[in-house]
Amino acid sequence: MASVQDDVLKITEKYIMETYGRYPVTLVRGEGCRVWDSGGKEYIDFLSGLAVNGLGHCHPAVVAAIREQAGRLLHVSNLYHIAPQAELAKLLVTHSFADKVFFANSGAEANEAAIKLARKYAKDRGEDDRYEIVSMIQSFHGRTLATVTATGQKKFHHGFEPLVPGFHYVPFNDISAAEAVVTHKTCAVMVEPVQGEGGVHIAAEGYLPALKELCRDRGALLIFDEVQCGMGRTGRLFAYEHFKVAPDIMTLAKALGGGVPIGAMLATDVVSKSFVPGTHASTFGGNPLSCAAGVAVMKTLLAPGFLGDVDVRSRYFLKSLQDLQKRHRVIREIRILGLMIGAELEEDGVAIARECLDRGFLINCTMGNVLRFLPPLIITEEEIDALMAVLDRILP
Ligand SMILES: Cc1ncc(COP(=O)(O)O)c(C=O)c1O
Repeated sequence: MASVQDDVLKITEKYIMETYGRYPVTLVRGEGCRVWDSGGKEYIDFLSGLAVNGLGHCHPAVVAAIREQAGRLLHVSNLYHIAPQAELAKLLVTHSFADKVFFANSGAEANEAAIKLARKYAKDRGEDDRYEIVSMIQSFHGRTLATVTATGQKKFHHGFEPLVPGFHYVPFNDISAAEAVVTHKTCAVMVEPVQGEGGVHIAAEGYLPALKELCRDRGALLIFDEVQCGMGRTGRLFAYEHFKVAPDIMTLAKALGGGVPIGAMLATDVVSKSFVPGTHASTFGGNPLSCAAGVAVMKTLLAPGFLGDVDVRSRYFLKSLQDLQKRHRVIREIRILGLMIGAELEEDGVAIARECLDRGFLINCTMGNVLRFLPPLIITEEEIDALMAVLDRILP
């Protein structure tokens, strides 16, 4: 008799486009930091659905908010006022640099909105030639045509040319390179304070403030893409708080909905004014269900002590990885901010991630040789110990 797993595999192969290289595992249930597959095997999740399940799987506050909202009102158009949307916007603004929010459904859409807002802001000021965006080599901003163009990795561009005009790339953490490229034609510089897909690279001390000053001097806006590093991931609500600088525009998605699709683009008042009725929109953006989940996520993250605990767990994770590194010189470098963690290896890491899966641990390998850990922010020391014991066995 065919197992549920076999059935899902066959149906997936037959009916779903092959855009993902999937492991032969079907995850069917989750709770906290654990997930279970269709055969009942348990896994400890150190990936969080790629930084989405920041509060863990099926967090009770998120589940309760979704249940309550699902029974009340699932969707209405943005032609009307939406109470959970207003509540979430107020929470985001109250706890960030921003004055206004635009809601979308994903990280790419939030970034698409940011790019459009930056261009529109320049046009509104009569600067028709100021439309260029400068982004970083090895960045990742999404898969729509504009955001894949903003993504500074050729492998994601291949086959989709011609790309959107007006994009330039500079090395991350190199302010001289940015100075050479940001001109009177630049409407915005776009940067992840911590690059995620690019291999967990953290902005160097002073780099983001220097970028801000450069943007101010040359009349460009600064956009922080916090789709992956925002929402408590780094131990602060927003990663920019570590770097003593605020952007003009910031994008969020992933963990904002606690597992429900949502994106958000936040901006200062003066910049926000360039979006008026008719300039930009989204049918589902700010949907009552996703915003109710977002409110529950925000309130949980803001509860006293929650983010402080992320710092404690981060220090424990770092110490554990450093101990591991002493025994396994294959670990070249550890990069960590809060619970956004990369361990760069001297060799390919894809097989290591696969071996972890077989042994009941979800991790990720990015850029070929960076083991990436994005555990739920509630991961325990015992769970970290369990992962380290497995890595100790697997690593050469
Ligand atoms: C920094 C960053 N920006 C944007 C995106 C795109 O988000 P989405 O897949 O929700 O469109 C991602 C996704 O990994 C990301 O890490």
